[in-house]
Amino acid sequence: MTLGARLDAATGHLPAPLAVVDLDALEANADDLVRRAGGMPIRVASKSVRVREVLTRVLARPGFAGVMGYSLREALWLVSQGVDDVLLGYPTVDTAALDDLARDPRAAAAVTLMVDDLAQVDLAAKAAAAHGATLRVCLDIDASLQIGRGRFRTHLGVRRSPIHTAEQAGELAAAIVRRDGIDVRGVMFYEAQVAGLPDSSPAVRLVKRLSIADLATRRTAVVDAVAAAVGHPLELVNSGGSGSIQSSAQAASVTEVTAGSGLFVPTLFDSYRSFEPRPAAFFGLDVVRIPAPGYATAFGGGYIASGPATKSRQPRPVWPAGLTLTDREGAGEVQTPLLVPRGGDVRVGDRVWFRHAKSGEVMERFSTVHLVRGEAVEASVPTYRGEGGTFG
Ligand SMILES: Cc1ncc(COP(=O)(O)O)c(C=O)c1O
Repeated sequence: MTLGARLDAATGHLPAPLAVVDLDALEANADDLVRRAGGMPIRVASKSVRVREVLTRVLARPGFAGVMGYSLREALWLVSQGVDDVLLGYPTVDTAALDDLARDPRAAAAVTLMVDDLAQVDLAAKAAAAHGATLRVCLDIDASLQIGRGRFRTHLGVRRSPIHTAEQAGELAAAIVRRDGIDVRGVMFYEAQVAGLPDSSPAVRLVKRLSIADLATRRTAVVDAVAAAVGHPLELVNSGGSGSIQSSAQAASVTEVTAGSGLFVPTLFDSYRSFEPRPAAFFGLDVVRIPAPGYATAFGGGYIASGPATKSRQPRPVWPAGLTLTDREGAGEVQTPLLVPRGGDVRVGDRVWFRHAKSGEVMERFSTVHLVRGEAVEASVPTYRGEGGTFG
């Protein structure tokens, strides 16, 4: 049975637009991540899932441990729902949420804040002092590849932490140690230029090789410098993402890797050499009119992914086969005209299945996601949005 026929059979009784996760594909992807991690624990990137039930199911599988959250309010909510280990992937300046964190000993023990600047640390220290608490932090280390010097220096990777060298990391850690109420747990390296770029050209593959070599030495030097500054070995050295899990897991001094997008496998993850893409998340729209022969218009669909506004951020129709978005209208605000290939037969009332360009973002469009196994819905569960959780 084709994918489209299977999803149609499972959800024919449900109204569209609707989101589904194919559990067989999700579980196969989870197993694949564990295999690629080679025994290194995997922290699940919640931004790439945004469905609590899916996070819980994945965390129950051997090989996964802890969540990488994206917002402190999200982390506090997850802890209130029983999650006991959330590393924030990004800094926060939400003083009210920091206050809530410091006030709640269970949350303070479960959440690790991400910092790369003393200004963030000072806000956390203030909240800690107000409640006599100790808050735990992790240092975000810039994992970009820097080539050349001075004016000719080129930055390959994302713009995140200003802390690049072992010396800078050691200095920041030493300054944090001088603050009361803050414990340094470890460091994080997110090598976006390895983890988040498909292997689409020899140039990208070269950047990946150079980055892995650069990090191999820099990571260990940073870990040693931070450990020396805090006076104890680091318990947490996080690295990587779905696209780099193998190289990150094998690197010296890493204690855990992060992955999220490798569970749903959105279209931006289709051309990686490091793993077999097995799409697990889809959304379905119903055809509501036929504007002319060769066209079909579906209701809904304008779910454009974040990042540079290029075509790669549009959703992709995947079933029935051969449908494409039009250049003029793309994925529309409330309806999406599609080009039907010659010989195609798409009628009013038919369901069209799409994949999103990114992993968790599409779940912000839906309150419920239907978890499909084979030809049946095994469970219909709320997304973060469905639980009132819109965090960023
Ligand atoms: C800090 C951090 N770690 C890891 C990841 C990897 O997430 P994913 O596996 O969804 O690509 C990301 C994604 O942007 C990230 O920001």
